[in-house]
Amino acid sequence: MRKIYIFDTTLRDGEQSPGVNLNTPEKVEIAHQLERLGVDRIEAGFPAASPGDLAAVHAVAKAVKNASVIGLSRSREQDIDAVREALKGAQDPCLHLFLATSPIHRQYKLRMDKDQVRDTARSAIRYARKYFDKVEFSLEDAGRTELDFIAEMTKMAIEEGAYVVNLPDTVGYLTPYEYGNIFKYVKDNVPGVEKVQLSAHCHDDLGMATANALAAILNGADQVEGTINGIGERAGNTALEEVAMALETRQDFYGAKTSFTLSEIARTSRLVSKLTGMVVPGNKAIVGANAFAHESGIHQDGMLKEKSTYEIMTPETIGLKESKLVMGKHSGRHAFREHLIELGFELDEEAVNRAFTKFKVLADKKKEVTDDDLFALLEERLADTPEFFQLDSLFVSFDSESEPTARVRLSTIDGSVREEQSSGNGAVDSIYNAIDKASQEEVTLSDYSIKAVTQGKDALGEVHVALTQEGITAQGRGVSTDILEASARAYVDSLNRLVEKRKTGRRDNIPMI
Ligand code: KIV
Ligand code: ZN
Repeated sequence: MRKIYIFDTTLRDGEQSPGVNLNTPEKVEIAHQLERLGVDRIEAGFPAASPGDLAAVHAVAKAVKNASVIGLSRSREQDIDAVREALKGAQDPCLHLFLATSPIHRQYKLRMDKDQVRDTARSAIRYARKYFDKVEFSLEDAGRTELDFIAEMTKMAIEEGAYVVNLPDTVGYLTPYEYGNIFKYVKDNVPGVEKVQLSAHCHDDLGMATANALAAILNGADQVEGTINGIGERAGNTALEEVAMALETRQDFYGAKTSFTLSEIARTSRLVSKLTGMVVPGNKAIVGANAFAHESGIHQDGMLKEKSTYEIMTPETIGLKESKLVMGKHSGRHAFREHLIELGFELDEEAVNRAFTKFKVLADKKKEVTDDDLFALLEERLADTPEFFQLDSLFVSFDSESEPTARVRLSTIDGSVREEQSSGNGAVDSIYNAIDKASQEEVTLSDYSIKAVTQGKDALGEVHVALTQEGITAQGRGVSTDILEASARAYVDSLNRLVEKRKTGRRDNIPMI
């Protein structure tokens, strides 16, 4: 069976999704989960973008032991040096260099002719190879590049010692037939092509990212790049869970497999969704809430008689289990700790104690605490951001006849306490106006969403909020049995992330030239 290498770029291309910002502990948390999932390669970020990005890539490089860690770089020496710095101490470091090759990018973005593009890339790979055994070279916008120029650039990359050549459909323009044909052309026309791995990297602008990656595999691609839940620039990237499950379910057709531990898919999807704030649509293939739900009577009847009538994969394969009833308020710390380990959380003693306190508070409010509740609680502040502001108390008054008002008390990192009151055109609005006054930060609310974690009147509510300030966007989340409290917590969390981002100089718009 052919092995297809999986290059996960959730932490780089995925983080380029508008509004997504992962801080360093969150990146490390996701990277650990990607290791559990069994990805071969993890692209951790773009170190030259800012000192904050470099530090985040460095933290991932030090933490990951069972996958290669990759840093992205434009074809410039300063970028390559930033990746060298970031990947110091990595078990299996790799540099990912790119340069655009299509006529449109050559003319308008780079203002270079073909010779200049080839020579710039050649010098960059040559420089990079002095420091890295493993260099991947990407022909950005290969999808709209002349086939003979793709072949010429691939040949050059092989001569300079690249170990992977990536042929991205950067703008998600191609059909599976056309994308597959690029791989076939390169395989048939580039001397020495057997010395490199060919890689597919697709975007989903026309909804064909997974189909295109699979077409590349059929035509000789050795590696697929993508993200968990398909998040990424614009319409996103190839969803890796879809590729892994397509290869698994249709082994008869593809004759290829990945090294995924398939039962980790659901957990990985949930973690990425929570930490990025990008909600997975209910009808999303493999990991959507409805992916294994059967609604119509005819389908339900068929399922009861024989599951294979309407189910081509089982939910258990991707690790979906019934949300178990965990414990109640009388459960002890030891049993709680054992249960967290069973769920896959690796927490130190202090974190277990904090989680246990939260669990006890929840168990007092809620009759039944399930695994889903625990996931929501633990992932809320799994990756701690410095608490520049802390919500000490919240009071809201609401009646249908008059304007709601809210009073909040915030304490700041330097020990001051600020209490403010405000009204608004709804309860949540009044809370947010009061927090704005108390924090003395001028921000714009750019996104707000709320969902129930479990069913029932006492379900936990989970709120995601995005705030923007002078071009910086930060997302936060809050969980509580009370949706107003969850809304306030999410807002304060988002403020803390925004301040952290401002202080560390992390940027949303990385110039890709
Ligand atoms: O889509 C793309 O072309 C990229 C490159 C940087 C590989 O993300
Ligand atoms: Zn991309």
